[in-house]
Amino acid sequence: MTIPRHIGIIMDGNGRWAESRRLQRALGHKQGAEAFRTLAYYCRDIGMDYLTVYAFSTENWKRDKSEVSAILRILEDYLIEAIEKMAREGLRMRILGDTAPLSERLRKLIAEAHAIADTYTGFTANLCVNYGGRDEILRAAKKSSETGKTFEDCLDTTGLPDPELIIRPGGEQRLSNFLLWQSAYSELYFTNTLWPDFTPKDLDKAIKWYNERDRRFGGR
Ligand code: IPE
Ligand code: IPE
Ligand code: MG
Repeated sequence: MTIPRHIGIIMDGNGRWAESRRLQRALGHKQGAEAFRTLAYYCRDIGMDYLTVYAFSTENWKRDKSEVSAILRILEDYLIEAIEKMAREGLRMRILGDTAPLSERLRKLIAEAHAIADTYTGFTANLCVNYGGRDEILRAAKKSSETGKTFEDCLDTTGLPDPELIIRPGGEQRLSNFLLWQSAYSELYFTNTLWPDFTPKDLDKAIKWYNERDRRFGGR
């Protein structure tokens, strides 16, 4: 069995998970963060190099203020935890996306997490926050023309291999602006399981499915 070096996950279905239990949507996001924590350790343990998850899109600001602030609060708590433990646990955490509109407090925590991640190598979990594939491409094009660096070196994912596999739980079959440039030849796996219910067993299933694909990259 080949373990992909890089898997992308669109963490969808938190709201429906909560609503089906008559809970507030924020509790679905909290449970979704738990699912992420468990899965990140699992990805580290099976020898993957990168896990990139979609946590908050450039379009998600359209939601109620209370839901947006609940998501950003959970992110803040998560970053505080990561800063405290990630070096000890052999996990590097990075944030992808346009962090400029985030609060100063969040941006400071992100800078702190990145500074720690820079001091060692190993498994990296990338959390996409205020991330949109189109926005990333526009920012990269602008930066590339201003600095003369190559376009790919200006993407948020600079230095990472493209994801071999992208997983979307939650039942929808679309990318919703996730890794538009990097997903050109990714295998796409969809499942009805809602993100908070997604376990390492579900990841195993997706990896097994990935191993049955014939990746041609336009060749024959
Ligand atoms: C994904 O879950 C998390 C974010 C988009 C922030 P949703 O909140 O989209 O959950 P559903 O799709 O409404 O169930
Ligand atoms: C995609 O989910 C964004 C994240 C999981 C962060 P959405 O719930 O926002 O996507 P749509 O609206 O169903 O396309
Ligand atoms: Mg959704």
